[in-house]
Amino acid sequence: MPKRIINFKVNGEAHEVAVEPNWTLLETVREALGYTGPKEGCGTGDCGACSMIVDGRLITSCLMLAPQADGREVRTVEGLATGGELSHVQLAFIDSGGVQCGYCLPAIALHTT
Ligand code: FES
Repeated sequence: MPKRIINFKVNGEAHEVAVEPNWTLLETVREALGYTGPKEGCGTGDCGACSMIVDGRLITSCLMLAPQADGREVRTVEGLATGGELSHVQLAFIDSGGVQCGYCLPAIALHTT
C-alpha cells in the first residue's frame, strides 16, 4: 500500500511526513518525529498514556490513524513548556514530587492542563 503524505503541526512546528495508511498518530509522532513524551501503554484506548491534544481536544493517539491528523494541530507534553519555562502544571508535579514511575506522567500532565 503506498505511503501518504500528511502535513500537520506538532507543538507549533510544521511537519510533512510520509506515512503508511495504517500508522497511528502515536507511532508517527514518536517514531518519525521523535516526540517521546506520549507512550504506548495498552494500545486499545484504555490507559491514556498516549494522550495528545488535537485541535484543542484531548485524544488517545493510539486510536487515531496518522492520515486523520492531516491539516491538524497536535500538542504533546513537550509543547507544555513555553520559551524554556515549564508550565504551572509541570512545576506543580515537581513541587509535590508527583512522579510515580514517570511512564504515564507526561499524559497526566497533559490531562491536567
Ligand atoms: Fe493506552 Fe493509547 S496506549 S490509551
